Amino acid sequence: MTALRYVRNESARQLRRGQSRTIGLIVPDIGNPFFTDVARGIEDVTSAADALLIVCDSDNGADKEERYLTMLAEQQVLGVLHVPVGSPAGAITRLRERGIPLVLLDYKGASRKQCSVSVNDVAGGEMAVRHLLDIGHKRVGFVGAESKPVPQVVDRLAGARKAMADRKRPAGALVILPTPSLNVAGGIAAARSLLDIAPLRRPTAVSCVNDLLAIGMMQELLSRGMRIPGDVAVVGYDDIGFAEALAVPLSSVRQPRHQLGRRAAELLIDEATNEDHRHERVVFEPELIVRESSNG
Ligand code: RIB
Repeated sequence: MTALRYVRNESARQLRRGQSRTIGLIVPDIGNPFFTDVARGIEDVTSAADALLIVCDSDNGADKEERYLTMLAEQQVLGVLHVPVGSPAGAITRLRERGIPLVLLDYKGASRKQCSVSVNDVAGGEMAVRHLLDIGHKRVGFVGAESKPVPQVVDRLAGARKAMADRKRPAGALVILPTPSLNVAGGIAAARSLLDIAPLRRPTAVSCVNDLLAIGMMQELLSRGMRIPGDVAVVGYDDIGFAEALAVPLSSVRQPRHQLGRRAAELLIDEATNEDHRHERVVFEPELIVRESSNG
């Protein structure tokens, strides 16, 4: 086989066995380290199962997401791991009609007709703002609510509002800062909105719905001569690898990224191969990691 440089014809083998060894993953933004960390957890499981992982970037777009779901269905893949940006209902049905399982990732499935793996984002949003209130801040900026109302962001905002209410802070003490996108550029834009607020009304702390926004926020504030945390305390979300390595190490709500990926991949392979599979809705708990960006 080596002498002939024989390469097994995977498509022919899949056709004979009637089952693919390819798994599709669709994420909203492969440029966000959160999703690459989740993908590494997935790949630990898929490679051990001798399966091939195809990663698709929906670019936060429902149309591109739809196109990838169709292409993966046509490939008759073993299964699909999906971080939805649009409504996943149609996709689940269409794949199920072809006998292809789908696991919702970073998304709490509404029905019990599929597995889902997510993090308790209401608790995560609450712990970030509660921490800022506990260290004495009275007005807190919230960064990330204005872009796509993805469920993760909606839950984090709900948690933030709960923290304010529990500390008897008026609703207006949580200031929504406009954000065009959930990335570094969005954080820079939000910082400029913050600095446009008159100093006496300006929040002295911000809670960002992910670390990329927090990185952009800190970059712009520092470039404008602001001190962190002295003038503005900053908390991010995800606790990506860069968070602790920044010039001002970033406080962040840690999501168990590898575990999210591993568990989702395990559930998918089980559903694809185990006739006795039972669907599960797995919800992990986040953890607040306090660093210099909000330490006192
Ligand atoms: O996609 C935006 C955010 O949602 C990511 O940064 C991660 O926090 C995900 O849950």
